Amino acid sequence: MALCCYFLVAEPHYYVKLRAELDAAFPEPLGHLAPATLATLPFLNGAIHEVLRLGSPYFLPRVAGPGGAKIDGRYIPEGTIVALAAYSQQTSPDNFYPEPMPQGLGPDTKTNKAVLASFSFGPHSCIGKILAWQELRYCLSRVVLAFDMEFKPGFNVQEFRDGILNMRTTLLEKDMFMKVTRRAGVDLDKVFATLETQ
Ligand code: HEM
Repeated sequence: MALCCYFLVAEPHYYVKLRAELDAAFPEPLGHLAPATLATLPFLNGAIHEVLRLGSPYFLPRVAGPGGAKIDGRYIPEGTIVALAAYSQQTSPDNFYPEPMPQGLGPDTKTNKAVLASFSFGPHSCIGKILAWQELRYCLSRVVLAFDMEFKPGFNVQEFRDGILNMRTTLLEKDMFMKVTRRAGVDLDKVFATLETQ
């Protein structure tokens, strides 16, 4: 969520585009955000895919079982520790090219979504994936519909980006300083009053 807000504010034309998509889908910015509708919004879902691609690395070890394993045609002896470097395949130019931000998608764009591995694959992949996606869609939409976000004056956008370290997990070397204000015309007290009656 934090990284998604960072990328949107760092590339404000995407922020404007996301808000326009959400405004069109939800004319009442504080109304109910139906999960089924959120799931159909291409830019919202694209933004979440992109931030998961850039900010959810892992290197989960597995051990080749009895008799070894065959991976991509190659024999791996029993007991060998193997792991998928999710971040490497998610950022390899073989799979994604050019970088969608800031260049945008062009005619020779590669987007190999099959390699997006944030939730892992197979029998031990994340059982919370659907819930996580719903939470991400809901929380991001709520924030974008109800608030204006901008970096605090003096915040160094590039320095923060250089400090995003995708190793075993995503580490943020630099603090993010965001100024968040209510969007003009959005009465948050109304939301809290509604929540209290539910
Ligand atoms: C963006 C959010 C999330 C990401 C990126 C994520 C990612 C992952 C990954 C990569 C694994 C595989 C771990 C492994 O193989 O050792 C995993 C497993 C798991 N996740 Fe998530 N997860 C997220 C949210 C959630 C949520 C919200 C829940 C529960 C409500 C959840 C529950 C689990 C459980 C129980 C497993 C273990 C599954 C097993 O070993 O059979 N996750 N998750």
